[in-house]
Amino acid sequence: MKMLMAANWKMFKTRGEAADCARGIESRLAWLPADREAVLFAPFTALAACAEALGPGARLRLGGQNCYPASEGAFTGEISPGMLLDCACSQVLVGHSERRALLGESDAFIGKKCAFALNSGLDTTLCIGETLKERDGGMLRPVLERQLAEGLSGVQDDIAAERLSIAYEPVWAIGTGRVAGPVEILEAHALIRAFLRKRFTSGGGAMRILYGGSVKAGNAEEIINLDNVDGVLVGGASLQAETFARIALAGVSD
Ligand code: PGA
Repeated sequence: MKMLMAANWKMFKTRGEAADCARGIESRLAWLPADREAVLFAPFTALAACAEALGPGARLRLGGQNCYPASEGAFTGEISPGMLLDCACSQVLVGHSERRALLGESDAFIGKKCAFALNSGLDTTLCIGETLKERDGGMLRPVLERQLAEGLSGVQDDIAAERLSIAYEPVWAIGTGRVAGPVEILEAHALIRAFLRKRFTSGGGAMRILYGGSVKAGNAEEIINLDNVDGVLVGGASLQAETFARIALAGVSD
């Protein structure tokens, strides 16, 4: 299984800024080991500029931060998986906690997106995670299991393991500077692994589980060395090429 090192730029960067930064990341990824992949989830408006800046054969792959579960139609403001493929994307994020909290996305709707994106040919990362209130209320397991069950409800049992990943992003650790500790990460990732093994006929042991939430150059190596951590999803620290490249290359000696 290859590790997946992912940048999520959220709603940052104009086309020119995005192209410069994508180029800057790519130029630093020459030493990315063969057992790692890097992907950039850029804003929709910057995808074509990033694709052009990166050119064919780049190490850095592109992805959308969201998609709508239909191939086309009267869905004002939405973007289809086909449109992302057309912008050189191979991947998509679904269910990011900001979309759940700020845009009211339900588990059922996220489940539709996840299955539709995979069926459309995009490799898909389903984001899940508990709020602090849920964690403090002893609800970690039921919340994660509900998000997984509904988010994956339409996904075929025999989906290729490398096409689906889960990003565990505790809501209280996103953009707060408060990274989850090793014990918290190990517990959540073990729970997710057990769920995936049960849910999928054979691939559940080999699907990637990423950690996200205040990942920085200084803590990435420790995090990716934990059991059942198969990559990271990085927000704030991915906005600078140098910083994200250091995270993508964490633990690789120069
Ligand atoms: P952060 O965001 O790294 O800024 O905490 C992570 C994410 O939201 O994917």
